[in-house]
Amino acid sequence: MLFDWRKRRLIRFSSKGVWLIVLCAIGAMADQPIAFPHNSHVKLGLDCLDCHIGADTRAAAGLPSVRKCMLCHAKLAKEKPEVQKVIAYANKGIEIPWVRVYDFPSEAHVKFRHAPHYQAGISCSTCHGDLTKETVAEHTVTHTMGSCLTCHRQKHASEDCAACHF
Ligand code: HEC
Ligand code: HEC
Ligand code: HEC
Ligand code: HEC
Ligand code: HEC
Repeated sequence: MLFDWRKRRLIRFSSKGVWLIVLCAIGAMADQPIAFPHNSHVKLGLDCLDCHIGADTRAAAGLPSVRKCMLCHAKLAKEKPEVQKVIAYANKGIEIPWVRVYDFPSEAHVKFRHAPHYQAGISCSTCHGDLTKETVAEHTVTHTMGSCLTCHRQKHASEDCAACHF
């Protein structure tokens, strides 16, 4: 039995030789420094790209700086305890240390790029699930070389090793 911290799953090898992948008690939700609710911010009318500003043109989607949060939270919802944590980071001038949710290990040598997928019209939810229903991002979609290649074959995108690896 082993515990894969990166995928936060308990992986068990049964006697019948069947791999059982069981979501463990802490689930696929990262323990974030602040309980940031995606759902309520999307309800306010914010677009994914308002905060993840690289997703349409760059490799990395990017995480928003605490300065962006303060555009609203210098005035709005200041009484909420979780918002007070945001304000405390901003006052100290340090970024919120978010725990990464979707992240390939460096030893896999994968170079993922958001821009070509955005330009091909593939929605965020295809690869990240429905964030409009989540608070902090959860790891709901597992990306493997097989899952990348299955879609690349269907859409006639590159299957060249060098497209995805460095
Ligand atoms: C466009 C304005 C806006 C921006 C930008 C914004 N927020 Fe908010 N946020 C709000 C409003 C308004 C609420 C109160 C929503 C409600 O009560 O449903 C809120 C609520 C919250 C809450 C409290 C949730 C709760 O009920 O306890 C947290 C935490 C939070 N925001 C964090 C952040 C962080 C972190 C950022 C930056 C990544 C950010 N917000 C960016 C407007 C914004
Ligand atoms: C084809 C699948 C795919 C699509 C479509 C996609 N992503 Fe991603 N996203 C990924 C993968 C894979 C990673 C991890 C990349 C890594 O570790 O290098 C990732 C990482 C991220 C990250 C982490 C930080 C970063 O800088 O990359 C954010 C935020 C993100 N995606 C947001 C989005 C948003 C917003 C959209 C829609 C505009 C989107 N993604 C569309 C697959 C996708
Ligand atoms: C108000 C800003 C804001 C908006 C709007 C927003 N996000 Fe995020 N997003 C964040 C913050 C802050 C984090 C880091 C905390 C977390 O992991 O939930 C994050 C994390 C993520 C991650 C995990 C990144 C990683 O690998 O660590 C994904 C994927 C993501 N967002 C996708 C989306 C999508 C899709 C939308 C639109 C439906 C969206 N976000 C809208 C602020 C935002
Ligand atoms: C749902 C379908 C889908 C999934 C899943 C997907 N891709 Fe793609 N990918 C595409 C499409 C479509 C393109 C654009 C092809 C074009 O522009 O000709 C693309 C383009 C790319 C490119 C640019 C290739 C080039 O020639 O410049 C890279 C790199 C890439 N994908 C990596 C990945 C990786 C790594 C994964 C898995 C984490 C992944 N993709 C998952 C559909 C997908
Ligand atoms: C469409 C994108 C894509 C293409 C094309 C691709 N790979 Fe991968 N590959 C990945 C991703 C994503 C991972 C990481 C999977 C993980 O971390 O679970 C990976 C992982 C690997 C690994 C590490 C072992 C593993 O399975 O985790 C090796 C070795 C590898 N790829 C070799 C290749 C070779 C050789 C080619 C060309 C024949 C190739 N890859 C083409 C996306 C791709």
